[in-house]
Amino acid sequence: MTGPVDERRLVEGREETLRKCYRVLEAYGKVYGAERFAECKSCHWVTSCGLRFVKSMFMVLEELASKDLKSRVPLTANPRPPQTSIPLVEKLVGRYLYSKQGRLESLLLRLGLIDPDAFTCTPYYIGNKPSYGDILAWAESSAVIYANSVLGARTNRNSSIVELLSGVTGETPLFGLLLDENRKADWLVEVKTSSKPSPFILGSLIGKSVLDGVPYIAGLDRWEFEEYELKDMGAAMAVWGAVGLFHAEDLTPEAVENGRKILRSDHKVLRVGDEELSKMKREMEAKAAPGKPDLAIIGCPHLSREQLDFFARELSEAELKTRTLLLAAPKIAREFKSTKLYSKLRDAGGDVDSFCPLMLTNIPTSKRLKILTNSGKLSYYSHAAFMDTPQLLSYLRGE
Ligand code: F3S
Repeated sequence: MTGPVDERRLVEGREETLRKCYRVLEAYGKVYGAERFAECKSCHWVTSCGLRFVKSMFMVLEELASKDLKSRVPLTANPRPPQTSIPLVEKLVGRYLYSKQGRLESLLLRLGLIDPDAFTCTPYYIGNKPSYGDILAWAESSAVIYANSVLGARTNRNSSIVELLSGVTGETPLFGLLLDENRKADWLVEVKTSSKPSPFILGSLIGKSVLDGVPYIAGLDRWEFEEYELKDMGAAMAVWGAVGLFHAEDLTPEAVENGRKILRSDHKVLRVGDEELSKMKREMEAKAAPGKPDLAIIGCPHLSREQLDFFARELSEAELKTRTLLLAAPKIAREFKSTKLYSKLRDAGGDVDSFCPLMLTNIPTSKRLKILTNSGKLSYYSHAAFMDTPQLLSYLRGE
């Protein structure tokens, strides 16, 4: 990448580490055909676990911090590994596996984390909420697709480290989903189902079908589709395929602004009816293991406050059949824990926490645990068995 801006940066005699940041970003951008940098307004860090065996990431963070470099833009990070609320064996093994967690957190704070508790995959619920059109450097697939689609901001699915270097320099290479041309839809998805589709199942089906395409989804506006449902649908799309942006007719900002003009003329068509969704559901449920589950996990991606209230209400009236953890950002969890509803949830056998459940399932001993989840993301990446939300709630209440 060359050009007047880059030349100036390299000859201004900036401090060597900052220059290295630019060189890495420049090399990364060149791979994807970027010709210049764009101003970066927000940064979200993805590698939020202090894994005992990782060295190179710490070398980069230590060097940045030792030179007093900080993110120039709001910086948040993905959720922490589990520390409490899990069985003792996993707690002990996890403590060993993620033993550099304290070091990682203190480095991120020195590098400009907006709050010591800013660890969540829903940074937009805790103060790192970009505006329409802002260019960002985020690197968590569920957050990236939410920012692009629901907020109308612009970010690529960046590699870890690249997002932080963009935050530190305040600039990021301009390519991919940051450009108008690449935000056009190459799939028209026509949803014609007899009832409101499950966000996780629909998202999984779309992701599996369009892979890394940009879908324009028509038919969701027939129902009340909340933003948190778009969050869950997007998270599933991002893992079953590699979708970084979707448009939903009359719902998401760029679809509202452009209508079907945002579809490419040579777009493909995917039709989704009851049959297609039932088939996808069966595929997602295939992992279910016999026997009583040890744990149910709801909140991958982390729950919004409305979702937390909803699930807590649904689960606090009966003694739960399986211990259930609801996951949300630390700030949201803390506020919720001061309510009466939280006490009721605890009495029923549930609790609230803020970790990333994938980091629990990555603990080798956790394979012995039978885990149930309604998340199309957690069940895709781990041994956790999928159960759609209404069935999971009924099962947990013993109905
Ligand atoms: Fe968030 Fe971890 Fe799930 S980052 S989306 S809770 S896998």
